[in-house]
Parts: sequence; C-alpha cells; structure tokens
Amino acid sequence: MKVLVTGTEGYIGCRLAPYLAARGHDVVGLDTGYYRDGWMYSEPARTPVLPKTLMKDLRSVTPRDFEGFDAVVHLAELSNDPLGENNPAVTYEINHRGSVLIASQAKAAGVRRFVYASSCSVYGLGSGEFLSEESPTNPQTAYAKCKVMVERDVAPLADENFCVAFLRNATAYGPSPRMRFDIVLNDLCARAWTTRKIAMTSDGTPWRPVVHVEDICQAILRCLEAPAPTVNGQIFNVGQTSENYRIKELADIVASVFPECEVSVGPSSSDNRSYRVSFDKIATRLPGFKCEWNARKGAEELRRLFERIEFSTETYEFRAFTRLKQLRFLQRTGQIDDHFLWKY
Ligand SMILES: NC(=O)c1ccc[n+]([C@@H]2O[C@H](COP(=O)([O-])OP(=O)(O)OC[C@H]3O[C@@H](n4cnc5c(N)ncnc54)[C@H](O)[C@@H]3O)[C@@H](O)[C@H]2O)c1
Repeated sequence: MKVLVTGTEGYIGCRLAPYLAARGHDVVGLDTGYYRDGWMYSEPARTPVLPKTLMKDLRSVTPRDFEGFDAVVHLAELSNDPLGENNPAVTYEINHRGSVLIASQAKAAGVRRFVYASSCSVYGLGSGEFLSEESPTNPQTAYAKCKVMVERDVAPLADENFCVAFLRNATAYGPSPRMRFDIVLNDLCARAWTTRKIAMTSDGTPWRPVVHVEDICQAILRCLEAPAPTVNGQIFNVGQTSENYRIKELADIVASVFPECEVSVGPSSSDNRSYRVSFDKIATRLPGFKCEWNARKGAEELRRLFERIEFSTETYEFRAFTRLKQLRFLQRTGQIDDHFLWKY
C-alpha cells in the first residue's frame, strides 16, 4: 500500500514509518517539524530509511496532498494533556478541526483507508471499573475533548469506499529516536537512571493502562491490512487488559529494574486522571493483533538503551524530548506565532 503517515517526526511516527516500510508498504510522511531538534539515538537496524516527508502544517492540506495514496494514518497533533492545556484554542484548531480536515480531504482524494490515533484519555476519570469502547467518555482536558470530537465528526465519513478505524491508544512507552519523557513509564525510567530516584508526580493511586510503542505500530498495521468490514467505523482500545497499573505499581516495576533507587510519592491532588481499560475487543476482533510487550520488559529495554547510549541528565532534560518544553521554547523565541505556525 502507498501510505501517508502524518506526524512522522514524532515519537510514534518515527517508529511507525520504518515498521510499515519493513513490511512492504510505501510510506510518505507529513509533519511540520516542531521537534526536529530532537534525535536521541540511531539504530540502523530499526530505522533503515527515513520516509520522504512533506514539511507542512496539517491545517493547510488539500486533496492534492493525498492523491495516489491508498491509506492515511493520522498521528500529527498536539499530543498530550499539558500541551493541549498550554493553548486550548490552538489545540482545537490543530487536533479537532485539522484532523477532521485531514480525513475529509483524504476522502475527497480517493484514499480508501483512514486510521486515526485516538487515546484512552477520552475515558478521563473512571471509578475503577474496566472501561470498554462502549463506555461513556469523560474527557478532562482540551486534548482529550478533541479526541472525542474527532471520533464523532470523522465517523460519519466512513462508507464502503472510505474505511475508517479509530485506535484509542493507552499511554505509550519504549524507545524512539524522537524520544518523549512526558509519558509515565519513560519518565520514571529516565529519572531512575539519572537521579537514582523514582519520584511520582501523583500519590501513585491513579490507574493508567500502558502500551509499548511497537505494539501501537502493530495495531496500526493490522488496521491497514484487515478486511475493511472488520474495522470500518470501529473503535479499538489499544493495549492489553493485564497492562492496567496504578502509577505506584509502575514505580515498583521500575524500582525492580533500577534497584539502586529510592521511591517517593507526590501530592494526592496533582493528577486526577484515572482510568482502567478493557482491551478485550482488540484481542478478539482485530485479526492477528497480540501485544508483544509488557511494562517490565519495556523498563528493561529502556535500561539497556540508557546503558548503550550513555544516557545523561542533559539528554533527559533536553527540551525537544518533552513536548511542552519544546513548544514553549518555540513560542518564547518567536519561531512560531500565536497559532503555532512557523514565522520563517
Ligand atoms: N504517545 C502516547 O502516549 C500516545 C497515547 C495515546 C495516543 N497518542 C496519539 O498518537 C499520536 C502520535 O503521538 P506521538 O506521541 O507520536 O506525538 P508527538 O507529539 O511525539 O508527535 C506528533 C507530531 O505531529 C507533528 N505536528 C503537530 N502539529 C502539527 C501540525 N499542525 N501540522 C503538521 N504536523 C504537526 C509534530 O511536529 C510531531 O512531530 C497523537 O495523535 C497522540 O495524541 C499518543
């Protein structure tokens, strides 16, 4: 398939493009390049060829950008809660209106399949029960509200010529050259390595499902390759039910992989997002899908990477590996305007 992936310069996209290429797909990227300064490591075996990438803001796409593509995987957004709260108006512009524009322009150009990276953060605040794709959403932030709105507004575009699948990803972890330390397991491991401390930012009680970045790539691949009627119009939570943890449990896993560390909890009110998610649907209804990772294996993999690349505090704190720091830097230094468009 000829696949256009938006967000190829991001954490997931940078892993997804070579993953799809290695399985015989022809991948082209689209990205505006907010995080272009950040490249944490190279691994030739994993990143054989970087895709040709159209440097463009997704808010200005037209059907011409999608001509000749069989499928679009849409990842490019302001991709987490703190970033969304930093400027909710721009978050709605990019994440909601921009994503609906991508889907409608792709459909107008004759693209036949569309995979959207949604998020389990749409569940927001649960009371401990397992939430499924049928459960009511309860988004707490501009970022999560946009995910719900995109699902609502893109679903009606699905028909026999335009197959649409929504993947509600759990919180990702694992290595990527475009690394992120604003996601819980990556952050706990990086702190453990650089400070010998595992300091939780919450009291450790919130539930959070986590999933390896490569398992997200696998889910996307399966959605691209599945018979259209099995995925068209469907929402899938992406992860596995056994990978729901309280933050404290994740900290304990990290402590066992980085045993020389001290564990401490944060204030009880600092993070009220908590949700526990059922991943039974993807395990039974997305042909061939099976997660290959778990949090412990992921923490061990990160430890091996940190050893190999002599991971340092300087790298951990580098702005381009923490989304909010990087966007604030681009704003402060006048490189992007009030709408987060490049000035030069
Ligand atoms: N990483 C996670 O834990 C996670 C979990 C659930 C869902 N998701 C979703 O998966 C998708 C990818 O996540 P990620 O972690 O790779 O994000 P990321 O922030 O690392 O990458 C997003 C990419 O999109 C690009 N982008 C942002 N705005 C753009 C615009 N206006 N025009 C063109 N490009 C633009 C950025 O430059 C960046 O390279 C996102 O939609 C995110 O919400 C991620």
